[in-house]
Amino acid sequence: MARNIFLMFGPPGSGKGTQSEMLAKALNLPIISTGDLLREERRAGTELGKQVEAIMDRGDLVSNELVIKLVAQRLNDEDSQEGVILDGFPRNQEQLADLLRIIRETDALYLIHVDVDDEVVLERITGRRVCACGANYHIKYKPTQKEGYCDKCGAELEIRKDDQPEVVKNRLVKYHEALQGILNSNKFKQVIKINGQQSIPEVHNDILEEVEKINNYEDID
Ligand code: AP5
Repeated sequence: MARNIFLMFGPPGSGKGTQSEMLAKALNLPIISTGDLLREERRAGTELGKQVEAIMDRGDLVSNELVIKLVAQRLNDEDSQEGVILDGFPRNQEQLADLLRIIRETDALYLIHVDVDDEVVLERITGRRVCACGANYHIKYKPTQKEGYCDKCGAELEIRKDDQPEVVKNRLVKYHEALQGILNSNKFKQVIKINGQQSIPEVHNDILEEVEKINNYEDID
């Protein structure tokens, strides 16, 4: 079966995770987030988790070899057979080449480029609060009902270690290094550029409007 694979691409803090979650609900598709998969490995204290800890805390990219293995496993899962949202992957041309090797010839890749300026990224990341259950908030733009505690599971919220300003700057460098290489690729069926500097629902509506134009999503509510 041919699959639509939506690639959520953009700088750190642009809202990829937030928008992936909303799009996943609208399309009823699973999300494969390489950042989340790596953080799960760390939380579980696996060998892989230990291997990537320092790299992630510095804001560097984990090796392509490790990341593609995680993606390949999830793409093989039953729930990924009708389409999927890839959040934070591919991050560079090598990862795109790896992805092309493991998908089917009939799969269609749609790059959703969430475009946000670096200054906005810094503001968003400074206010981000996360929960071990995977929930993601912002003190101003997506506040919790009870300050400092997760709406979904009630646990105390945390600040991600790689959300320190110096680390964020390094993550932005990595993003800008890879940006043109990805955008210039001819491997996507379509590149959908979205103005990520709007409110969370506005960004979602723009993404949905574009996705609805793709043939098989004509019937989204
Ligand atoms: P990863 O977790 O993928 O981090 P990232 O790409 O840097 O993206 P973020 O998770 O920081 O931000 P986001 O764009 O998802 O924004 P969010 O929705 O949270 O990767 C982390 C690390 O893992 C990497 O540095 C690397 O080491 C490793 N890694 C991961 N993938 C890899 C790969 N493929 N290859 C190699 N290494 C890899 O939003 C941010 C904040 O803003 C939130 O608080 C949110 O509530 C708020 N917000 C969102 N949208 C809006 C809006 N429109 N207006 C106002 N606030 C908003």
